[in-house]
Amino acid sequence: MDEFELFADEFTEADQEDLVGFSCGDSTSGRLCTEWISGSGVLDSLKRKTKVWIYRNQTENVVGYSSVGFVKWHWPLPDGAYTTVLYIPMIGIDQRYHGQPPEKEWRYSHQIMNHLISSCHRMNGERKQELKQPVEWLTLKVLPDNAGAIRLYNQFGFELIGNIEQKHGLRVMKHRLAE
Ligand SMILES: CC(C)(COP(=O)(O)OP(=O)(O)OC[C@H]1O[C@@H](n2cnc3c(N)ncnc32)[C@H](O)[C@@H]1OP(=O)(O)O)[C@@H](O)C(=O)NCCC(=O)NCCS
Repeated sequence: MDEFELFADEFTEADQEDLVGFSCGDSTSGRLCTEWISGSGVLDSLKRKTKVWIYRNQTENVVGYSSVGFVKWHWPLPDGAYTTVLYIPMIGIDQRYHGQPPEKEWRYSHQIMNHLISSCHRMNGERKQELKQPVEWLTLKVLPDNAGAIRLYNQFGFELIGNIEQKHGLRVMKHRLAE
């Protein structure tokens, strides 16, 4: 089954050449995710030190990408003290690979979420070495009609924060990384 194994590389501008034909689908979220990774959105985020990974399969086809960076938010939302949290700006899988492969243990979405969350723990470990406080929360924003994404995030320990609705109706989800 390791024919389905994904390989993660840190994304650079040069990887955009490999994104011809890459599409996360025609939904609002799908279009935003395609535009972000193919255009200036990802490049602006890289300048802000956001980490971005591109995932390829054994035949070097691009399956998807993920991203995460440190941000300062009012926490708890909406008006707590300014606090550093980890935030996932975008995550996307090419529509040809949505729901693939059917076997859960190799599902691309699961491989990507596992890689992303373990990378967050590693980034927290690096903070500890720099004598900084590890961040407690991993966060993301999602449109409420993006049922597949919300189901995926629930499966990886994210919960919707009640009563918080941001611009464009975005909802916020949180996953506890550390006490
Ligand atoms: C979100 C995304 C990365 C998830 O990848 P995926 O391969 O579709 O994920 P999965 O197939 O594992 O789907 C997750 C679960 O939601 C379910 N699901 C998928 N679409 C669904 C829908 N429209 N309604 C309800 N459930 C849905 C799946 O059946 C699966 O459940 P299961 O684990 O019980 O089988 C991918 O769909 C994508 O790139 N979407 C476009 C971009 C996007 O929305 N990014 C997220 C922005 S926050």
